[in-house]
Amino acid sequence: MTAVARRIAVLASGRGSNLEALHRYLGALGERAAASIALVVGDRETAGALALADALGVDVRVAPPGPDHAAQLGALLSEFDIDLLVLAGYIRLVPDAVVRAYQGRVVNVHPALLPAFGGRGMYGARVHQAVLDAGARVSGVTVHFVDPVYDRGAIIAQWPVPVVDGDTAGSLAARVLRVEHLLFPRVVQAVAAGRVSLDEAGRAVWADGAPRSGLTFVPESVEDHELVRYIDDAIGCRASR
Ligand code: GRF
Repeated sequence: MTAVARRIAVLASGRGSNLEALHRYLGALGERAAASIALVVGDRETAGALALADALGVDVRVAPPGPDHAAQLGALLSEFDIDLLVLAGYIRLVPDAVVRAYQGRVVNVHPALLPAFGGRGMYGARVHQAVLDAGARVSGVTVHFVDPVYDRGAIIAQWPVPVVDGDTAGSLAARVLRVEHLLFPRVVQAVAAGRVSLDEAGRAVWADGAPRSGLTFVPESVEDHELVRYIDDAIGCRASR
């Protein structure tokens, strides 16, 4: 059984559905959770994620962009004794100093298959519109370690999601988001538990060699609990229980 050892700070700019999914997942794991959410930091007061965090009883702070941003964020992470940074719908670049201090301990979820359809300004509906505009037939979810460049850090896990005829950015976003909510918390748990780490060459390495990606499409008709089974098998969550 894993004790709750790691303290997570979630950085968020948006509505916070991935924050909610992570909170629920770690809560459901109970004592097996390798981490707990100790702090939510928003880049602006109006982020829905902050109201949600407040409702969940998690401490909330705002660290807006600006000249003091790196120092302010660094101070907050020290004050709350944070071990792991989780970007859940965070649209800002994490300051270099923070990335350096937390190397291998900053994780982001991106709603497409990186390295395509990422980079500065690629967030929200723009990502999905770019996928559609390119005529890609496959999109998906990427969870990766964060480095100083937008969406470039080492890929930890990916899951494919099909693009279907007639998709809009909205319909594709919804199909992808469903998978984000299932994959992301499981990968965060794996990172917190030390099952996956960043090696010196800058690659994500799984200690137990677990396959960490979807090997096949899961049809939309599949219920969440069944999709969870596929993802748990791929990420090896069963082994860590
Ligand atoms: C998600 O699609 C995430 O992949 C992206 O921004 C969106 C955030 O949604 N980085 P939410 O705030 O977690 O609901």
